[in-house]
Amino acid sequence: MTLPENVSARLRLPAIAAPMTGVSGIELVAAACEAGVIGSFPVHNARRDTSLGDWLTTLERRLQQSEGTPAPFAPNLIMHSSNRYRDEELATLVAHGVELVITSVGSPARAVEPLHAVGALVLADVATLAHAEKALEAGADGLVLLTAGAGGQTGWLNPFAFVRGVRAFFDGPIVLAGGISDGVSAFAAEVLGADLVYLGTRVIATEESLADDAYRAALVAATADDVVLSSAVGGLPANLLRSWIERNDADVAQGDYQQERLLGWQGVWSAGHAVAGVTEVLPVRDVIAELIDQYEAARAALRNPGA
Ligand SMILES: Cc1cc2nc3c(=O)[nH]c(=O)nc-3n(C[C@H](O)[C@H](O)[C@H](O)COP(=O)(O)O)c2cc1C
Repeated sequence: MTLPENVSARLRLPAIAAPMTGVSGIELVAAACEAGVIGSFPVHNARRDTSLGDWLTTLERRLQQSEGTPAPFAPNLIMHSSNRYRDEELATLVAHGVELVITSVGSPARAVEPLHAVGALVLADVATLAHAEKALEAGADGLVLLTAGAGGQTGWLNPFAFVRGVRAFFDGPIVLAGGISDGVSAFAAEVLGADLVYLGTRVIATEESLADDAYRAALVAATADDVVLSSAVGGLPANLLRSWIERNDADVAQGDYQQERLLGWQGVWSAGHAVAGVTEVLPVRDVIAELIDQYEAARAALRNPGA
């Protein structure tokens, strides 16, 4: 593992409950951290009911009261210029002295220095090798590689090619995002060279998520064949459930990313290919416990193939 010891020592599974608009709330993040994976959330989710500062305070207090040592949480900051709250959000993260931040939709450049000044680790999400190099030049400490089949605004590179391509020039923390639905896949990602995996689609249909019942039921019913690519929401290609596209007549490309347009959509049913592993609605701790068992079994089988 190339992750700092103070982070890796608090994980029971090398994974991040991925940041998801309209899905990741305080309950999901706290449950993920308590189950032993990093809990992440896009900072704009806080504006649904309060302010980012209040959210962070509530989350910090909640985790202070947890039994044992919870995993760290990682706010996700949208760097795109159309995010008019970006600088204010960055200042709040700095004021709270957060440990980890995940940047997305744009260069992490303006966030790196202020976050490093308070000791935070900056992971930048990227979808191309060129962006990976640029994010590192801008000072990112690690990379989230968005690959084909990921939920939300997806990548398009094959995960094998992307991880190995980045490992050719970077030996720091890599997070593989896309298609991870069980502990076997999480272990395979580690063999490939990733330090962590994202769990996005796999944790939407949980009791703690902000997703509504119809969305959770649609995830349970769907297979990977029901995932389609569309630029209708936000303007960047995103993986969505076919049933939502059909109901909303939304399969229309609309140009560049616009933060407010993305947030203007309510109740979008996004999912990646990992939806194949979603078979029932469970508490987060049960999902993570199952993945830990699968991960340990896969590791044991590789070490001892005849057993
Ligand atoms: C409903 C939904 C909303 C998402 N919102 C965000 C977001 O706000 N910020 C972000 O960086 N990624 C977002 N993503 C992408 C996820 O963080 C992650 O990259 C993706 O889900 C990983 O692929 P998986 O779904 O196959 O696990 C979203 C994904 C989904 C499914």
